Amino acid sequence: MTPNDPAAPDATDRESVTASIKASYEAIRYRSRPCPTSAPARIATVARLMGLDTPDPTTARVLEIGCGDGGNLVPMAAAAPQGRYVGVDLSPGAIAEARAMASDLALSNVELDAVDLRDLPPGLGTFDYIIAHGFYSWVPADVREVLLGTLRRRLSPDGIAFVSHNTMPGCALRGIAWSLLRPHVAGIGDPARRISEARSMAALVAEAMADQPGLAGVLAGEFRDVAERHEFHVLHDDLAVVNHPVLLREIVAEADAHGLAWLADADVYRHPAPAYGEKMNAWLAAADRLTREHVIDHLRLRRYRESLFVHRARGLGTPLAGERLANMHVGASNTTAERHGSAPRSQADGDRTPAGVQRMLLGRLAAVHPASVPVQEVVSWITSHGSAGSTLAAPANALRLLLSACLMGAIVPFAWPLRAAQGAGAMPRASAVARWQASRRDFVVNLRHDSVVFDDPVRRRLLPLVDGTRTRDALALELAAISPHAADPRRLVDEHLAHFARIGVLEA
Ligand SMILES: C[S@@+](CC[C@H](N)C(=O)[O-])C[C@H]1O[C@@H](n2cnc3c(N)ncnc32)[C@H](O)[C@@H]1O
Repeated sequence: MTPNDPAAPDATDRESVTASIKASYEAIRYRSRPCPTSAPARIATVARLMGLDTPDPTTARVLEIGCGDGGNLVPMAAAAPQGRYVGVDLSPGAIAEARAMASDLALSNVELDAVDLRDLPPGLGTFDYIIAHGFYSWVPADVREVLLGTLRRRLSPDGIAFVSHNTMPGCALRGIAWSLLRPHVAGIGDPARRISEARSMAALVAEAMADQPGLAGVLAGEFRDVAERHEFHVLHDDLAVVNHPVLLREIVAEADAHGLAWLADADVYRHPAPAYGEKMNAWLAAADRLTREHVIDHLRLRRYRESLFVHRARGLGTPLAGERLANMHVGASNTTAERHGSAPRSQADGDRTPAGVQRMLLGRLAAVHPASVPVQEVVSWITSHGSAGSTLAAPANALRLLLSACLMGAIVPFAWPLRAAQGAGAMPRASAVARWQASRRDFVVNLRHDSVVFDDPVRRRLLPLVDGTRTRDALALELAAISPHAADPRRLVDEHLAHFARIGVLEA
């Protein structure tokens, strides 16, 4: 609950808290983006790396709780026509937007309901994947209880739930900004003014603290973040009616009371890796897994988590294992793609040590990003590129190298291949969702379920036309109409199409 804020509703009055949450989301829309780690195929990949069988994500029944304007759920539904997708949210305005998107895209596999989670209709059945992204920490205690009860009742026996939440101890730092800004805007009813007053104050404090020594200088960054964040994040997170960060241990204990067990972090990159020096690595290796996570959260000052939960009775599988990558696919992470995008490849090409081979591999994967490559292919490439007698000649070691690159966040595993085209064909086609978003949002979702900034005015008009019905010459004519002064529309079309392929919105 927002501390020290007389404008905030009485915490004991559940209905007024929920009414106030609803009013704030109605007043300023929360613009939902795709959350790649919440995609069923990504969740299933983590589970499979832990040795668990998972429901097939391409035909799964998926529920998103607090789906907002559908920015996460609707693109998932579009990408899995044989799945069934249900989204619920308290905000009728957000659900109306989600429905409009689903209807424009003519999706028949998605159902969206404006309903309080506490009043979920009993006939909905069970789901293979349940997503609660941006929900747990932002609803009052009774709704958090209902959330966990819903997961227990609605998750199929081998289903997996994704729950994101604000996390301690990192949020203790954010809390310092909150404890100054919330009382500062107390009593201001108009949401837009709450946001602008909080941002101005945050900018003022950030500037005043910037040159201070020690922790004050660090905190300046917290205030700067608030001053620069999107307005809906300031209102619905920093100044939220409810904002409840928890230690992983606390949410795990609450879930346990509902018969649910914490499976793992939803992001392979966030799984523990030996990255803290010999003594700490040894200490962590000897600790039980929750203690290990708890300590690492303190080492990393973690402030946000994405946790996977399963029915406790199901069992938790085993730690991630390299050999389980064998039948999967891998792709460069976005960070790797950016880093290698401009680096000259030849630099690393002569180095056949394991580190050199890994560098070359990342360069190769970056070159086809955001598409993925079968691990079998990657393993034969690695085994043939190590120096004579290298440990990398053994496929098991090549798989280990790949797993460690996943844990470092350099590559991303996919149990299902990605359909992204690596170049534009004669009649190029962008995904229907990206074409829909191009003129309506400042981002588009790509075939990895990542959001990509998309604010170039010419591209925003061109992408909707890349629908598989036009040749490049036809697109050049359209471009000439969009940009009458363009010198060489045909060449520009090629450049724009190359960009669309690079960001992963063209279908293979
Ligand atoms: C922080 S937003 C997150 C939206 C979206 N999941 C995302 O991450 O982009 C929280 C959402 O939960 C919804 N919500 C809050 N309380 C709810 C309740 N009791 N039942 C259903 N939805 C609720 C809000 O309307 C809002 O859309």
